[in-house]
Amino acid sequence: MKTLVVGAGGRFAQIADLLIERGHEVRGTSREPESPAARRLAALGAEIVPADYEASRSLAAAARGVDTVFAGGTAHHVGPEGEARHGANLAEAVAAADVPHLVFVSGDGAAPDSPLPLFRAKWEVEEAIGATGVSHTILAPTYLMENLFNPWNIAALQAGTYPSPAAIDRPLQQAAVADLLSLAVLAIERPERFAGRRIPLASDELSAEQAAETISGLIPRRLEARRTPAEQLPSGVRFLFGWLESTGHQVDIEALRHELPEVRWHGYASWAEEQLDRFRELCPHPEPVPH
Ligand SMILES: NC(=O)c1ccc[n+]([C@@H]2O[C@H](COP(=O)([O-])OP(=O)(O)OC[C@H]3O[C@@H](n4cnc5c(N)ncnc54)[C@H](OP(=O)(O)O)[C@@H]3O)[C@@H](O)[C@H]2O)c1
Repeated sequence: MKTLVVGAGGRFAQIADLLIERGHEVRGTSREPESPAARRLAALGAEIVPADYEASRSLAAAARGVDTVFAGGTAHHVGPEGEARHGANLAEAVAAADVPHLVFVSGDGAAPDSPLPLFRAKWEVEEAIGATGVSHTILAPTYLMENLFNPWNIAALQAGTYPSPAAIDRPLQQAAVADLLSLAVLAIERPERFAGRRIPLASDELSAEQAAETISGLIPRRLEARRTPAEQLPSGVRFLFGWLESTGHQVDIEALRHELPEVRWHGYASWAEEQLDRFRELCPHPEPVPH
């Protein structure tokens, strides 16, 4: 099968690795085909073509002739209005290119009446995709585990704290990017099973105190959970954190694991074990390690 992965430089670009490992062909888009991220995909065997979410025609040209388009939007780069605009361009492009199947990463919580502009934008994009009549699968992840490494959390990790978006004893559902991508690969390979579905997904549910405890068991330093003060956050993130605290994700994790055993689901501990290099780099032992 041939899949177009939109955004070689994006947070979900690793899906190209998974598809290539499984013997599929990948075409990746980039606004900068000579960027290190685009070159990395080219070295894996992907074809790289120029495309920009701002230009629907460039996306349509990139999408011609593939079996599936995989895309995740750009909300964290361009905000809710940009996300809605880029999503509309994507919808127009997949329709123009007559794409057989689109797998799109939205977000759990997307709704027309959400108090969050981001979630209203994600809902608009889902509607625009639906209106095209193109066969599609919507994956709607909860808060991503990888958000722990977002720029506003780095100083806290370096100082030995686990930065929490919500009260430190409040259970929070989180999704591992690896699980999201593993499910995306399934949806790409089995369009007849997944087309027309919208799947909210979370990998685990735990409080910041429990997460800090888990990571502390893996690294030579104790992390103390602490809620991130709102004034240290970009405004969009502040809204999101308020929603996580007040409403929050409510995915039926057990049902999801039961229905989709093909996904190698991560619990928080197994996810954290795979991030050990990052933790060791960010949270080095404060004392010299004895020989
Ligand atoms: N963080 C969470 O907890 C969470 C949870 C659920 C869903 N999500 C969703 O994940 C999605 C993707 O994450 P992200 O917003 O950080 O994007 P991203 O995946 O980091 O980047 C998107 C990629 O799109 C490509 N692109 C093409 N045209 C672009 C343009 N005009 N402006 C910006 N990028 C363009 C870029 O690749 P090139 O540079 O190679 O062209 C870019 O790297 C978001 O929409 C978000 O809603 C996040």
